[in-house]
Amino acid sequence: MKSPEPVHTTPPPPYRYKHDQLERPRQRTNPLGWLLAVLCALLWAIIVIGGLILAIAYLVFQPKTPRFGITSATLNAAYLDTGNRINIDMSILTNFTNSNHKVDVFYEDITINLYLNNTIISTQSIKSFNERRRMADIRNVHMIASAVTAPASVGIWLKTGLVNANSVEFYVQGRFLTKARFGNLLTVSYWLHGLCKIVVSAPPSGVLMSSQCRTKK
Ligand SMILES: *[C@@H]1O[C@H](CO)[C@@H](O)[C@H](O)[C@H]1NC(C)=O
Ligand SMILES: *[C@@H]1O[C@H](CO)[C@@H](O)[C@H](O)[C@H]1NC(C)=O
Repeated sequence: MKSPEPVHTTPPPPYRYKHDQLERPRQRTNPLGWLLAVLCALLWAIIVIGGLILAIAYLVFQPKTPRFGITSATLNAAYLDTGNRINIDMSILTNFTNSNHKVDVFYEDITINLYLNNTIISTQSIKSFNERRRMADIRNVHMIASAVTAPASVGIWLKTGLVNANSVEFYVQGRFLTKARFGNLLTVSYWLHGLCKIVVSAPPSGVLMSSQCRTKK
């Protein structure tokens, strides 16, 4: 009786890649290549470290966006003249709130626009100012529209409000450049847009009846 053929247990020899036949003669490393590689590595290091610094700054300072609001408003006059032009005289106390605990801000290029029925009727500016952390600063603006020509619907809106509700609805928009200071090292600038819908009672001493505001970047 014949014993069975022995089974091959050893795997076949690994496939050998014939480097020597395929490779061209070795070249010496190009110095320019080395320089590029080093620069690349440096760039990555800068990006990674910069990102880390920003992340840490964010965690440490926990920045918050300042808010724009309206504290009070007085409607001294609001009427259509004989040419159906708009006349408005309103004093507004605007409120800038910096709720940050560690960040002071500087407000610049502050523009306040007054809208009646989606039509801009007055623009004023407020002087730049600095606001410390956890402060709310009030700035007075005197909005005047003097014989402003506007579409008929604006006049109708004003008249209807005064006659039917004894009040007028306006929109007050505040636009300003905000410079947030993170310690002494870093200042970040961005534009903020505050928009408030306000209802003011009839002149000559109309008071603020309601105000809804939001501030966006
Ligand atoms: C200003 O607004 C903040 C909230 O944004 C509020 O807490 C503060 O009372 C307001 N200040 C005044 C004087 O209305
Ligand atoms: C503008 O006024 C017209 C009527 O004059 C009114 O129908 C319309 O809703 C008003 N629009 C706004 C945004 O106030």
